[in-house]
Amino acid sequence: MNQYDSLPTSYMVGHIQIKPNIILAPMVGITDSVFRRMILGLGGCGLVSSEMTNASSVSARAIKHHHQLDFLPEERPITMQLSGNDPDLVANAARMVEQLGADILDINCGCPSPKVTGGGHGSALLRDLPKMERLLRAVKAAVQIPVTLKFRSGWDEQNLNYRDTARMAEQVGIAALALHARTRAQAYSGLANWDHIAEAKQVVRIPVIGNGDAREAGEALEKLRSSGADGVMIGRGAMSNPWIFLQIAQLRRGELPFEPTPADKQAWLLRYLALCQEDIGDRLALNKLKQLIGQFAIALPGSAVLRSAVQRANNIDEAREHIERFFAPHMELISV
Ligand SMILES: Cc1cc2nc3c(=O)[nH]c(=O)nc-3n(C[C@H](O)[C@H](O)[C@H](O)COP(=O)(O)O)c2cc1C
Repeated sequence: MNQYDSLPTSYMVGHIQIKPNIILAPMVGITDSVFRRMILGLGGCGLVSSEMTNASSVSARAIKHHHQLDFLPEERPITMQLSGNDPDLVANAARMVEQLGADILDINCGCPSPKVTGGGHGSALLRDLPKMERLLRAVKAAVQIPVTLKFRSGWDEQNLNYRDTARMAEQVGIAALALHARTRAQAYSGLANWDHIAEAKQVVRIPVIGNGDAREAGEALEKLRSSGADGVMIGRGAMSNPWIFLQIAQLRRGELPFEPTPADKQAWLLRYLALCQEDIGDRLALNKLKQLIGQFAIALPGSAVLRSAVQRANNIDEAREHIERFFAPHMELISV
């Protein structure tokens, strides 16, 4: 028996059981097949998602070149996330995503980026629930796989409509909700308000997954407990500490959470780089590493030096050398 025994360990998305109920958030530029497989390989993560993909870029012609929607069988169950605002266009893209083999289709109504909201996508739909409803209905009618919704608490503090959004989504037949409990106006500032998640959970029967600022294993489980959510979705916490899912599973089992050593962190980064290189070639792999390194909290003195060195690297060999050089003294300290 331990303090976490009473917490839920799974939830259903339609007919699909998600177990454990700790899942990886979709992240553009980050949650590609390589990152997802590396997270799943460490254990403790119940569901992964593709990066957000603009529905207008998903067509029969474009699909062959659409690596953003590639996945391997070992990643199942997998969610693919679309953004859009034209119901017919998103419904067509949804059909393609279903044909590609996605287990779950997720609609993004949370992205705060002006590029996305400017086109009426993402969190812009929070300002027009009738439009969001038309879009969700069209998508639901187009596919057999379960459809989920990821959204924010509202456009701004004056327009918190997470309860209305949750109720509407349930009525439309959405299978589960993930609420990033910030407003669009907040973007990523301030703190996610998990009371919103608790309240959304009260107004619907479908699973509600809480999202926002779960950065450490114990904290994620406390958020799960205090909100009464059905699961927790983790984004940046997984970028800075890919072991967080494993650590949560261990805490639940009453075990001491695994603490990665500098050697583990170096090995993780180098393997990530090698797999990206294999997958997308040197130049794009280097870009991926640059995107990740800002968050990959090395928790060692001087990690800012590594970050700026990697950012300045002109090629993948240079980046690899910076990583090896950075970790070398830490490894010696550990082995003494
Ligand atoms: C680099 C980055 C990319 C993101 N891309 C997406 C995305 O493609 N789709 C989406 O729904 N949310 C996206 N988000 C938001 C996350 O899924 C998540 O809602 C947010 O980061 C809050 O969770 P966290 O505090 O655990 O990171 C992104 C966040 C970050 C940091």
